[in-house]
Amino acid sequence: MLRKLHLLAGLLATLAIATFFTATLLVELFGSHAAIAGIKHLIVFPGLFILVPALALTGGSGFALSKTRQGRLVEAKMKRMPFIAANGLLVLLPAAIYLNQWAAQGAFDSRFYLVQAAELLAGATNLLLMGLNMRDGLRLTGRLRINKAAPVAR
Ligand code: HEM
Repeated sequence: MLRKLHLLAGLLATLAIATFFTATLLVELFGSHAAIAGIKHLIVFPGLFILVPALALTGGSGFALSKTRQGRLVEAKMKRMPFIAANGLLVLLPAAIYLNQWAAQGAFDSRFYLVQAAELLAGATNLLLMGLNMRDGLRLTGRLRINKAAPVAR
């Protein structure tokens, strides 16, 4: 039950960040200012209202699961989580709120693009860390086999 909750929350949080990242990149490259403002609004609502609880649930259930599972993979996952949370709460969350506010005011100035670049960088970092946590989680539950070295040709 707890494991299923962890799996679903982890998938949802990762999917949310991947969606925000892709939508931002596409609309910044090809969209109008009005389209950018629309995406920035959607990222705040409902986006953040999905991402923040999903991330908290993933971390909480992950730490609860680690009470009965230990080892190298669990330790690596545990070490990544503070970076994922800090990136989410200290960069992605305020960046999404400010970018939405500035886009709604039509303030597409250098400050907007500086914060936008920081948001994309933090989003990419979190996608990488969350992807690694997913890979190690799937290895822990045996859904993903560790790739043994290929047999040596003689
Ligand atoms: C965003 C962060 C995380 C993601 C995306 C994630 C993802 C996953 C996934 C996909 C699984 C496999 C579930 C299954 O096959 O049913 C898993 C398992 C697991 N995760 Fe995470 N996880 C995250 C954070 C954490 C944290 C912080 C911990 C705590 C150390 C943790 C501990 C575990 C443990 C112990 C398992 C194995 C559970 C078992 O064997 O029953 N995870 N995780």
